[in-house]
Amino acid sequence: MTELFEKVDQYISGLLAPEDKALQQVLRRLEEHGIENISVSAVQGKLLQVLAKACNAQRILELGTLGAYSTIWLARAVPQNGRVISLEADERYAAIARQNLEDAGLQAKTEIRIGKALDLLPLLEQEKAGPFDMIFIDADKPPYPEYFQWALRLSRPGSIIVADNVIRNGKVLDANSSDERVKGVQRLNMYLSSCTGITATILQTVGEKEYDGMVIAVVDHKTA
Ligand code: SAH
Ligand code: DHB
Ligand code: MG
Repeated sequence: MTELFEKVDQYISGLLAPEDKALQQVLRRLEEHGIENISVSAVQGKLLQVLAKACNAQRILELGTLGAYSTIWLARAVPQNGRVISLEADERYAAIARQNLEDAGLQAKTEIRIGKALDLLPLLEQEKAGPFDMIFIDADKPPYPEYFQWALRLSRPGSIIVADNVIRNGKVLDANSSDERVKGVQRLNMYLSSCTGITATILQTVGEKEYDGMVIAVVDHKTA
């Protein structure tokens, strides 16, 4: 089936999510630097764009930039005076991402902050950078529940929160997993089941990437 999923993904991206030169260059640069391409797929990037437009996003927060592939999809969904802030722990990746955003002509709409997300998130709150209309969580997996709680703090009713990689090839079904990444997303998914003030689901994702899933949540009202 994986071959079919890949072909259908290419069919969809060919019709609705073609990669332009800037996006292709991001993937080329990752390869040149020997960095594993764990960016979202083109079709997933387009899904992020659709969601950003659906909530009329002007301000977007991203956790985990890598080469800014997803950042480009998101930044293209916000108006000229809109902004995407993306948090990246690895300064080498951040430098590549900044170059990619500049080459994509998106410098004015984007800002990459270097540091661990759990260190940077309180600073965003202090400087009242929020509320963000959309938050895309795609950094390291063990602190996913904490990232989601921060996303709630930095959101408003109507904000959309998306979290990538919450199914992990179905490994989330293994209650005895010792993989900290699996445990992190299991904790998030469990937390969501009892979280009030949001409407959330998980979309399974197949295609050219590994079988996985994305949390898609809308904030109904602020709690705490
Ligand atoms: N969103 C990107 C892919 C991100 S991959 C895209 O789809 O194009 C995950 C990224 O999170 C990596 O670049 C990794 O360096 C970064 N990361 C890992 N731990 C982090 C942390 N604690 N804080 C911020 N970024 C982190
Ligand atoms: C990994 C991280 C991701 O964000 C992703 O989309 C795929 C894989 C990883 O850490 O292996
Ligand atoms: Mg991911």
